Amino acid sequence: MQRDSSCFPAADGPDAATAVRLSDVELSLGSGAARVHILKGVSLNIGAGEAVGLVGPSGSGKSSLLMVLAGLERADSGEVEVAGQRLTGLSEDALARFRGRHVGIVFQAFHLIPTMTALENVAVPLELAGRSDAFERASAELKAVGLGHRLDHYPAQLSGGEQQRVAVARALAPEPAILVADEPTGNLDEAIGQQIMDLLFASRAARGTTLVIVTHDLGLARRCDRMVRLRSGHIEAEAAMTATAPDAIPETVTA
Ligand SMILES: Nc1ncnc2c1ncn2[C@@H]1O[C@H](COP(=O)(O)OP(=O)(O)OP(=O)(O)O)[C@@H](O)[C@H]1O
Ligand SMILES: [Mg+2]
Repeated sequence: MQRDSSCFPAADGPDAATAVRLSDVELSLGSGAARVHILKGVSLNIGAGEAVGLVGPSGSGKSSLLMVLAGLERADSGEVEVAGQRLTGLSEDALARFRGRHVGIVFQAFHLIPTMTALENVAVPLELAGRSDAFERASAELKAVGLGHRLDHYPAQLSGGEQQRVAVARALAPEPAILVADEPTGNLDEAIGQQIMDLLFASRAARGTTLVIVTHDLGLARRCDRMVRLRSGHIEAEAAMTATAPDAIPETVTA
């Protein structure tokens, strides 16, 4: 597609706002015989405000790639730059501060704190980040995901889909520059899944949030600007989802 350069600066140009730069990233996890070489030379640039759908077979490294982007796993080698910050070489404390300031994470397993209510799960990280309006903000975000009537429930008292929605509210509440989400609609029925997608894309529309979303849901993937397909720890294919062909996801990324 020919782009009008006055509206769309080249995504890889020196002046373009780039949210993520991965260069030749290698990642191995586990020890001894259980050590697995997971990411094998992954290079990927994502523009600020871009929505990228990450697809690929089970075990191809999608969740691991999100962990590297979010600063939760350290690459063995290669360069990782997120929100203008080079993550390679940051201390654990600096990485934690970086995550708190810039990254929202929706995990594949929700990672809610079982001894905290839905409201506390969303509000406490905001409080720790120094927000004086933590509980008001958390309450508003939970209402936005349709859980205004479940604020005082503990995770064990919520359905899987409700827990997923708390996890999405928690990730969006600090208004992060980058949101990484691992199967955010995986446990949800279609209507609620649609509502969650709308929230993720509304956050992008309102605040320019960069979205990196692992999904098997082609409906969600179609709403992204680009799809990237991983296989066996490397990028096998990628394709722009152009406005002119919203229903035609190239076979190279769906096959
Ligand atoms: N901590 C770990 N130690 C050793 N191997 C790991 C570890 N975490 C993940 N792996 C292995 O790395 C590979 C990639 O895992 P990953 O979770 O990134 O896959 P995925 O693409 O997200 O799969 P799925 O679609 O099933 O969630 C898998 O083979 C997995 O078994
Ligand atoms: Mg996964």
